[in-house]
Amino acid sequence: MQYGFFDDDAKEYVITRPDTPYPWINYLGCEEFFSLFSNTSGGYCFCRDARMLRLTRYRYNNVPADAGGRYFYLRDNADVWTPSWMPMKSKLDRYECRHGMGYSKISSSRNGLAFKQISFVPLGDNCEIHKVTLTNESASEKNIDMFSFIEFCLWNANDDMTNFQRNFSIGEVEIEGSRIYHKTEYRERRNHYAVWSVNAPAAGFDTDRQTFLGLYNGFDSPQTPFSGKANNSVASGWAPIGSHHIKAKLAPNESKTYVFTLGFCENPQDQKWEKPGIINKTPANKLLEKYNTAEAADKALAELNAYWKNLLGKFTVDAASLSRPDDIKMARMAGVWNQYQCMVTFNMSRSASYFESGIGRGMGFRDSNQDLLGFVHLVPERARSRILDIAATQFPDGSAYHQYQPLTKRGNNEVGSGFNDDPLWLICGVAAYIKETGDYSILDEKVPFDNDEKLADTLFIHLKRSFDFTVTHKGPHGLPLIGRADWNDCLNLNCFSATPGESFQTTANFESGVAESVLIAAIFAFVGPDYAEICKRTNRADEAAYAEKEIKTMTDAINLHGWDGDWFVRAYDAYGKKIGGKECDDGKIFIESNGFAVMAGIGVNDGRAVKALDSVKEHLDSKYGIVLLQPAYKNYHLELGEVSSYPPGYKENAGIFCHNNPWVTIAETVLGRGKRAFETYTKICPAYREDDSDLRRLEPYVYAQMVAGKDAPRHGEAKNSWLTGTAAWTFVSISQYILGVRPVFDGLLIDPCIPSDMKGFAVTRHFRGADYHITVDNSAGAEKGIKSITVDGKAHEGKVLPIFNDGKVHKITVIMGAC
Ligand code: GLC
Ligand code: GLC
Repeated sequence: MQYGFFDDDAKEYVITRPDTPYPWINYLGCEEFFSLFSNTSGGYCFCRDARMLRLTRYRYNNVPADAGGRYFYLRDNADVWTPSWMPMKSKLDRYECRHGMGYSKISSSRNGLAFKQISFVPLGDNCEIHKVTLTNESASEKNIDMFSFIEFCLWNANDDMTNFQRNFSIGEVEIEGSRIYHKTEYRERRNHYAVWSVNAPAAGFDTDRQTFLGLYNGFDSPQTPFSGKANNSVASGWAPIGSHHIKAKLAPNESKTYVFTLGFCENPQDQKWEKPGIINKTPANKLLEKYNTAEAADKALAELNAYWKNLLGKFTVDAASLSRPDDIKMARMAGVWNQYQCMVTFNMSRSASYFESGIGRGMGFRDSNQDLLGFVHLVPERARSRILDIAATQFPDGSAYHQYQPLTKRGNNEVGSGFNDDPLWLICGVAAYIKETGDYSILDEKVPFDNDEKLADTLFIHLKRSFDFTVTHKGPHGLPLIGRADWNDCLNLNCFSATPGESFQTTANFESGVAESVLIAAIFAFVGPDYAEICKRTNRADEAAYAEKEIKTMTDAINLHGWDGDWFVRAYDAYGKKIGGKECDDGKIFIESNGFAVMAGIGVNDGRAVKALDSVKEHLDSKYGIVLLQPAYKNYHLELGEVSSYPPGYKENAGIFCHNNPWVTIAETVLGRGKRAFETYTKICPAYREDDSDLRRLEPYVYAQMVAGKDAPRHGEAKNSWLTGTAAWTFVSISQYILGVRPVFDGLLIDPCIPSDMKGFAVTRHFRGADYHITVDNSAGAEKGIKSITVDGKAHEGKVLPIFNDGKVHKITVIMGAC
């Protein structure tokens, strides 16, 4: 069944009942301040770093699910209820949650009292705004008591959940009228605090959790709203919270609006104090004055709407141009939600979601480079600076820290390096940036190695070190050594761990020096030509020739040792034995090397590519997408590591690990099989599974990292929504390869590959300073191939559109068919 619907005009997903099979969330904020916001107002927020600067507390894996958020308790004539349904699970006469682009709205009503909450993070400021409106829809006057509620996190989210012997003694607040300041640790090394405020007089407040809730009560039965009166409690240690008591007298049909703001404020070190012990409130005053009225909040929301309208105008799919009714699902994903998710993955990497706690991983080297692919057309300048940050965590030999912390931008020592695919993703990210922008100057930027300015060299040299790292780290078959793992973090071929709890990814108990990855070889064959091309275009002919020679050598090695007869091999283990070959008992065939090798064009001319993808379909395909491998590993294998640790059908052990499905989609377009490409695309596309939400469970508007595979008891159930490389790669697959509008070094390439019964489509693409209105006519019923292109009414030779850079709109007409 469905729990809502897409409102395409508003670019909103409308949730029509609160008890979704899992909290369905949105992300507010796209610069420095971020909030996770569920359909029942659950979630938390942080500034810049989910671990180090967390404003509000959230208990993961709690019961009931999704407890903790920004709550408003309403007391209407002794009837106490929560309009966001949770935490009281109040019976509501009406409920709706609209998740939109950077904002969410919850509206509900009970017994003639209507509630409306609009929550967002404004552009340019570090705060969450909640505009709350109460309306008396009944025939008689109402006297409402409203109690706001948030629970502060003591900043370091990891310590906050573990170090209670200290934490229970350090909590501090200040209260000034309707402003509640959270200043734990401000007395010592922090120079920032939080403020929770409302733009109306408060009848009272609470800042001590136990006083507000009452002993042994949960969020669902807090004592204070039931008593109808705040206690003016001042937290000292234990658990500081922020609660305002607002009294609202409402005549029939009368509405009252309040603006609640939760802000993050910083002071210069020498201006921390107003007077001894009293924090300097200048930044808070400035912030709160700015959003002091409903009109000011509306204006900020309008600015946010305009910002998103502009961003999503960079690539749009014209729904009216689609001939098949179901294609609207593709249009709303490709044109709106997929790009929106790409912004979120760009900002978050894999740090903070309802599945990633925000205290573990920082930004991933490989992850962030891939996330760029789906984001670079939106805000190229931010992609540029991200590339420079990532590159600065590379080691001089080309290898890289696997992760880095967003706050310090330094490599993460706990995870270290040794993931031998990492270096190549930097080439992939930089090539995408240059193709989008034509900005070769990025190559001349001086970038540190290992964050050490003394080791700085140009970004081009970073790319060369990446390329050379692969060239110089090969095993006996001439294939790249895998190191701790390649893209598949769980293929840990040097790990050999028999000790419970040992990290699969940082342990190397048996390094024989021979474990090789065919996937890294294929990635090299895919991104290598871009490196060679960049060399040519920057007058580095010798380097280009060297690169081409190395790509040929690598391709030869794949042909010789990477082909198993009907598909590509996956890897060679630490004993030099095949992984992903017919002779294996389990794990005979894997998705990744097949998708990537064909993307790189390997086997296209001799029929092996067709064979490989047909084998993928035969052995790995399922109703809900392509599983990662088959047969699933039944037992734990010391020589394989984490991949065999998962029960069959989950995660890397034969789950549908969505990230790699678009590689097959793209590979199918390389073969010109539009129907197959589209089918692969739709199977993992959440909008196509909207009416199957009870099984899928997660948000129908965003991709999930994994869907349980055919070996799992709950085949089709999704986990880990939002933060996944699936977002970027599916956007690449649909926009650049299926609809076929692809930035290349020389311009915008047009090369659609679609099902033959798709009669055409129209998209708008902003590219290097101009808008391209592209109409594709497929009345010929082709899957691939272009008969003619006209540009602004004139016949155009070839498939690459010119770079106009004139700020104008250009009309492109494409006729598919044999030329
Ligand atoms: C996770 C990681 C990603 C990895 C993938 C496959 O999504 O973030 O880096 O490639 O798993 O193991
Ligand atoms: C686990 C997950 C994998 C992820 C890795 C990152 O191994 O299975 O998907 O990439 O953790 O730490």
